[in-house]
Amino acid sequence: MKEQIIEKFNLGKTLTYDELSYFFNGYLSNDITDEEMTIVLKDICANGLSEQEIFDLVDIFIKSGDTLHFDFPTIDKHSTGGVGDKTTLVVLSILASCGVKIVKMSGRALGYTGGTIDKLESIGVNVNLTYEEVLKQVNDIGMVITSQTKNLCPMDKKVYALRDVTGTTNSLALIAISVMSKKIAGGADNILIDVKVGRGALVRTAKEAKKLADLMISIGKKYNKKVVCMLTRMDNPLGNNIGNSIEILEVLDVLKDKVRNNLYYLSYEMASVMLSIYTGMKIRDARNVVIEAIESGKAYDKFIEFVNYQGGKLEIRLERPIEIYAKESGFIKSIDAKELGSLSMELGAGRSLANKNIDYNAGIILEKNVCDFVSRGETLCMLYGKNSVDINRAFKSFKIQKNRPYMKSIVIKTIK
Ligand code: URA
Repeated sequence: MKEQIIEKFNLGKTLTYDELSYFFNGYLSNDITDEEMTIVLKDICANGLSEQEIFDLVDIFIKSGDTLHFDFPTIDKHSTGGVGDKTTLVVLSILASCGVKIVKMSGRALGYTGGTIDKLESIGVNVNLTYEEVLKQVNDIGMVITSQTKNLCPMDKKVYALRDVTGTTNSLALIAISVMSKKIAGGADNILIDVKVGRGALVRTAKEAKKLADLMISIGKKYNKKVVCMLTRMDNPLGNNIGNSIEILEVLDVLKDKVRNNLYYLSYEMASVMLSIYTGMKIRDARNVVIEAIESGKAYDKFIEFVNYQGGKLEIRLERPIEIYAKESGFIKSIDAKELGSLSMELGAGRSLANKNIDYNAGIILEKNVCDFVSRGETLCMLYGKNSVDINRAFKSFKIQKNRPYMKSIVIKTIK
């Protein structure tokens, strides 16, 4: 049977539920090898899948493990992966400080994109909570961030790890199946998906991102879930800090209302949209509530409460960095997110292999961001970490021009 299934994928023919289930469940039970699954994943990248096959695979992925249920209305968020993306920590603190109950299961860094779980572990937060601990905490303080439990969508875990090393991450069908099966199995009623678009993202164009968003919204409808997709730019890093504990420092700055950069604006807009979905209030009113939560310090206090509750300590001491200076004066036109993401990983902040250790204090702080003016000899960015890297890569990531560039809004479009 498996040869016929592989052949059907190769010819781009439509497969039945039973055929898909046989093959993917066979992979989970090691009856289908990595090599066989890789052939199929490459065919899916080349030929796509029909809508029915996508729906069937979502169902098969969900049924590969446990499904969670909560007895209160839930809202969750997910990002398709970016560089410097610490919005989860800012947005959840804002929402919980506004009375929203929110449980988020997050992942680790792999490749050049970061993971919330590593960022939290860098300050000693316990991210291995039991279901009972999650319920107690969400009732006590309104927010929980924990590692995805072992048996939640194990099929996605296995297939995603293979996609990561076989160049099969950027199929829209596979992304939609991976994201939606996890979110539905995780018990969310309302789901906000941040679809990253651009040089530093899996999806390169807004047109493709719109297709992905439409697909995820239609999967959500099948399961009676409200899905909202925000298409957001990921050409330049999000915010100024890339790393783990280094990113926590920026979360504190945004929640203290000390910086108004693209991270601040994305977090503000995302929290407003989520609050509006959750409560049914108008988006204009939700924006006012979010601003008040930041300006009053309520959201900052909630983040501190959360860190303390999960056993973390905000004592971050960075070593002396290497400074990268501008060789010419001008305005920063762009900063290559993908290049700085992989440089940060090489400095020690990420993993090249799934089981590698992380240097929690490694990473990059941008002293200048897009549209800023820099004079020759001024610091562009600072590199932290014990590993030696080619510092020219940092320097070359910055494109400088004479005229002030036009500042594009971080949110391209919100699709409901
Ligand atoms: N995020 C996921 O969870 N899965 C993908 O396939 C891509 C991004």
